[in-house]
Amino acid sequence: MVVAANRARPPMLETRGLTIRFGGHVAVNAVSCAFRPGELTCIVGPNGAGKTTYFNLISGQLPASDGQILLDGQDVTRLPVSQRARRGIGRAFQLTSLFPNLPVLENVRLAVQARQQRGIDLLSMWTSHRGVRAQAEACLDRVALAGKRHLPVAALPHGDQRKLEVGILLALQPRIFMFDEPTAGMSVDEVPVILDLIREIRQDRSRTVLLVEHKMDVVRSLADRIIVLHNGTLMADGNPAEVIASPIVQQAYLGVAEAGASAEAGHA
Ligand SMILES: Nc1ncnc2c1ncn2[C@@H]1O[C@H](COP(=O)(O)OP(=O)(O)OP(=O)(O)O)[C@@H](O)[C@H]1O
Ligand SMILES: [Mg+2]
Repeated sequence: MVVAANRARPPMLETRGLTIRFGGHVAVNAVSCAFRPGELTCIVGPNGAGKTTYFNLISGQLPASDGQILLDGQDVTRLPVSQRARRGIGRAFQLTSLFPNLPVLENVRLAVQARQQRGIDLLSMWTSHRGVRAQAEACLDRVALAGKRHLPVAALPHGDQRKLEVGILLALQPRIFMFDEPTAGMSVDEVPVILDLIREIRQDRSRTVLLVEHKMDVVRSLADRIIVLHNGTLMADGNPAEVIASPIVQQAYLGVAEAGASAEAGHA
């Protein structure tokens, strides 16, 4: 079992008692959890459970009210977003904060360059201008956007913009990939491209993947481990079969005991 084997490896990322309060509301409440390389963890929970806020705390978009975030055992709780990114935390960019009037390829190329300025792969062939372009094109290819590389980002339909977010994340080559509902808003035929890509990333045992996902069929097919957030609190953590079958999840999240509803039904 992947999860069990991974327990021996030191965590790449860890949160200890991580908490954020908005006025009187505790959106993430003392969440302690460790993420190891080679593991794909799905984070599930009802709307408003605190999943995106947990990501925002880890990536640095929001400041913690309490608790700690450790990267490779080092406290990064007070570091800005840019420094956490430099240390390998990868969160899909909001495309609105990039360059909507520049072509798709140019946006990915800038991400490749940003990564190189982190000092990674300095000896590789990618330091050449042609190399940067080739690598950007390869990223676009992987998210099936090569044919649209000359279009301005602003002209892309929503599903393509989501794919581009993933393409840019690939270009940054983080060690910790954070995907927040990566296929939301995509048409049915676009989804497999992204899921296959996430599977591929997960094959790399030096990386860890955190995936917030409502669609339980996706969760079942990808997760090595599932954690459940509910009202900001971590209420289950374990291998997928155990977590999905646990009474607390069935009742509080899936609502099976009460309404016989599926998770998908609650999150259309
Ligand atoms: N900047 C903020 N200011 C005030 N409240 C916030 C802020 N960000 C999040 N919240 C609140 O924190 C709670 C958790 O929200 P969050 O977006 O993390 O939920 P989620 O689990 O990602 O939900 P969903 O599945 O709908 O995406 C919600 O009650 C939300 O209103
Ligand atoms: Mg969310």
